[in-house]
Amino acid sequence: MFLTDDEKRMRDGAEGDAVAAAMDLLIRYGAALDAPRLCDIRNVAGTMTQPSPVKARLVAEGGWDKAFAVINLDSDADLTIPPMRVPTCQLQHGFGPDSVDIVPYPRANVDLQSDAESFYGRHGVNILATCTPYQVGNLPLRGEHCAWMESSAVIYANSVLGARTNCEGIASTGAASLTGRIPCWGNHRDENRFGTHLISVSGLTVESFQDWGMLGYFAGSVSGEDRPVITGSLSRPDLTELKHFGAAAATSGGVELYHIPGITPEAASVEAAFGPGASVPDAVVYGPAERAAVYETLNEIGSSTDVDFILLGCPHASLEQIRQAASLLDGKRLASGTELWIMAPRALKVMADRSGYTAVIERAGGQVLTDSCPAMSRTAPAGTRVFATDSAKQAHYLPAILGIEAWFGTTEECIAAAVTGRWNGELR
Ligand code: F3S
Repeated sequence: MFLTDDEKRMRDGAEGDAVAAAMDLLIRYGAALDAPRLCDIRNVAGTMTQPSPVKARLVAEGGWDKAFAVINLDSDADLTIPPMRVPTCQLQHGFGPDSVDIVPYPRANVDLQSDAESFYGRHGVNILATCTPYQVGNLPLRGEHCAWMESSAVIYANSVLGARTNCEGIASTGAASLTGRIPCWGNHRDENRFGTHLISVSGLTVESFQDWGMLGYFAGSVSGEDRPVITGSLSRPDLTELKHFGAAAATSGGVELYHIPGITPEAASVEAAFGPGASVPDAVVYGPAERAAVYETLNEIGSSTDVDFILLGCPHASLEQIRQAASLLDGKRLASGTELWIMAPRALKVMADRSGYTAVIERAGGQVLTDSCPAMSRTAPAGTRVFATDSAKQAHYLPAILGIEAWFGTTEECIAAAVTGRWNGELR
């Protein structure tokens, strides 16, 4: 792999042992992928602060320098971690101190994470604490090379923002944060950004939040790890709907990049989405039968209609989603024995607090929670047997993670279930 003089200096230790270890990791990673060179980056979204038993043991042995060396740099050496070389943010992690009396999450994890935040904050990591960094100010430009983790964020960055990132891991983002480099392969390269599958919506119009999620789930199942191009009868989506669509496509498949001609930035037309001179493949149709099949799949784990727990905000809710929940709950009260959690970025919760939305939700008995989610922290209200959600991603993952039943429906159906304690959703 070609290295610039600056990269050779870092590799050879001119900026210290930790940077040399980071460069060594990137060189090994790039060689394994046959990457011809490294990309310059200045935007890393990774995870350093998420608590775990291994991290607790490493911190006890050698402090946070040791934990970062082993987990984020794949190195057993005694390293002193310098400040991050490029802007770096922490994605979602565990629950914080303000959730202690609400979420059954170990206090030791909360304390470990608070300690981590203070260490990494001093090293220049912006603690955004959300899976949607693009909602709270981390917006890379079109064409900008990044190193991001979190599948729902990666697909948003590539497809909606036109930035360039692969779905990185804890160690590669750690190394990228100290060097400002990442192997230049996959989604960083022009030739890997064209469409591979054509999906045409026909016989219905995709226009609701729920429909964008179901279409995303279908697109992921059709495309696997490739790049769908979506056409046909679509209303113009907003940020929230694209957030939902992408998270679902990255759940049923491993999609990291899609195009919607005329809407996403790298596809002015269907032909442009597939690249110059490429033939456009036959379309896979998404119609009423396919929509019904997706709905059936997402609801196949539900059997009891007695609902204990409602979860909204996966990926983390937009301010508009919090406002909508407040409006649906205004003047109502949750059913006894039913809990409602709305997951949101901490920065947006501050705005929801100021706008009065949080107070309305709390008066009804619900909670706006930040930093994490049940799937990430493997927790739900004590005794939960059946949950309902408007998120295809949570409906897909949470039953397997927590061994509970799931219902998937509209936000309105979820709020109605929170108020009545009964699931009464149906495909309309
Ligand atoms: Fe975010 Fe958790 Fe969903 S991290 S994307 S809310 S599974």
